[in-house]
Amino acid sequence: MSDKTYTLRDNSTGDELELQSKSGSIGPDVVDVRPVYAKQDIFTFDPGFSSTASCESAITYIDGDKGILLYRGYPVEQLADKSSYIEVCYLLLHGELPTAAQLEGFSHSIRTHTMINESMLRFFNGFHHDAHPMAMVGGVVSSMSAFYHDTLDINNPRHRQIFAHRIIAKMPTIAAAAYKHTLGQPFVYPDNDLDYSSNLMRMFFGVPAEDYRIDPVAAEAIDLLLILHADHEQNCSTSTVRLAGSSGTNPYSAVASGIAALWGPAHGGANEAVLRMLEEIGTVDNVDKYVNKAKDKNDPFRLMGFGHRVYKNHDPRATIIRKMCYRVLDNLGQQDNPLFDLALQLEQIALKDEYFVERQLYPNVDFYSGIIYKALGIPSSMFTVMFAVARAVGWVSHWQEMIEDPDSRIGRPRQLYMGSGPRDYQAITERS
Ligand code: CMC
Repeated sequence: MSDKTYTLRDNSTGDELELQSKSGSIGPDVVDVRPVYAKQDIFTFDPGFSSTASCESAITYIDGDKGILLYRGYPVEQLADKSSYIEVCYLLLHGELPTAAQLEGFSHSIRTHTMINESMLRFFNGFHHDAHPMAMVGGVVSSMSAFYHDTLDINNPRHRQIFAHRIIAKMPTIAAAAYKHTLGQPFVYPDNDLDYSSNLMRMFFGVPAEDYRIDPVAAEAIDLLLILHADHEQNCSTSTVRLAGSSGTNPYSAVASGIAALWGPAHGGANEAVLRMLEEIGTVDNVDKYVNKAKDKNDPFRLMGFGHRVYKNHDPRATIIRKMCYRVLDNLGQQDNPLFDLALQLEQIALKDEYFVERQLYPNVDFYSGIIYKALGIPSSMFTVMFAVARAVGWVSHWQEMIEDPDSRIGRPRQLYMGSGPRDYQAITERS
C-alpha cells in the first residue's frame, strides 16, 4: 500500500470516502475503488477499461509513453536479440531465466509433447476446405479439454504444469494441421529433434514427398516474431482468458476464449487486415488517398497496424520487426519488395501528418509482421494463427498467476443500466 489517499466526495450529501492508493514495483499507482460500492452505493464507470487495473501481475510491464516493454523485467529488445522463444516461454511461466539444465528440461518436455491425438487430427476433415484457420484452431483447442480430463484439476499444480506444456507444445501442430487442411495437403508430423520454430516451419511447408530444408534466417525470423508476440499484459485476449478462467472453467476452454478474442481486427486480426489494406492501396501513388480516408470521420476506414491503446510514443516491437523485414527480404533476394516499400512510405507520410501526430498514432506490432510472414510463404489467413501460437504462453502464464492468487475472485463487472424501468407484461392482443 502507498500512503496516498484520495477522497471521493458526494457533493449532494457531503459524504466523503477515503480511498487508498497502492503502488506497484514500477508504473502508475492505482486507487483501490473496491469500497466505493459498499460505502457509497455507486459504481465506477470505465467502458473499455482504459483507466482500470483489473489485477496485480508480475509478468509483463509496459510504459506506453516511453515505448518500453519488459517481460519479467527484461527489455524485449534484449530478449529479441539474445534469447529464444522457448527460453522466453520459460521466463514468462516461471519468472526467471532458466539455468542451462532447466532450459534443457523444459525444452525437452515441450519437444516431446508436440503430437496431437489422432482423433483430434480427424476433426480437421470435418471443416470445409475454405474454413478460416482461426475458426479451426479455436475449435480444436477448445476440444482439448475432451482429451485431457485426467489433468483438469485447476487446483493441482502438476495438472497446471502439464496443461501449460501441452498448450505450448501443441499449438504449432494444431496451427499446421489447420494450414495443411486449407491446402488439401497431408499433415506433416512434428520432428522432435528440431527447435520450436524450425519444427513449426517444417510442419507448415514440408511435404511427405520431399525433404524439407530449413532456412536459418527464416527460422530466426519466426522465432523473433514469436518472442515479440509472447505476452502483452492485460490486453483484450489475455483479459478474456483471465475472465473466463476466473469462473473455474478448464484452462483449455479459457485459452479457446482468448483465441476468439484475438481474432478481431482491433486486436490480433489486425496483421491480416494490414496486408489486405496494403494490397488494396496497391501503389505509393495511392497512399495520400488512403491516409485521407483514415482521417475522414465519415469513413469507417482506419489505417490498420496503426495506433495502440497503451503505446503513445512508439511500439518497440514494430521497430524490431521493421529491422527484421530488411534481413528476411535481403535473404530472399527481395530487396525491392513492393509491399514493404509501400508500408515504409505509408509510415513516413502518416508519421508527419497532424492527425496521426495529435492522436499519437504509430505503427504497432502488426504493421510489419505480415510482410515477413508473406515473404516466408505464410498466407494472410494464417497471420493471426501465428499470433495465437506465440501468445499461448502469455495466456497460460496469466491464467496460472490468477489461479495462484489467493485474492482472485470471479470476474463480474457491473453496468450503468439505461433500459426500461419495471413494467407489467401485456398480452399479445393488447400490444400496439
Ligand atoms: N487509423 C485512423 N484513426 C485512428 C486509428 C487508425 N488506425 N486508430 C485510432 N484512430 C483515431 C480514432 O478515430 C480516434 O480519433 P478521435 O479522437 O478523433 O475520435 C483516436 O484515434 C483514438 O482512437 P480510439 O479508437 O479511441 O483508441 P483505442 O485505444 O480505443 O484503440 C486501437 C486502439 C489499436 C484499437 C486503434 O488504434 C485501432 O483500431 N487501430 C487499428 C487496428 C490495429 O492495428 N490493431 C492492432 C493493435 S496492436 C496488436 C494487438 O493488440 O493485438
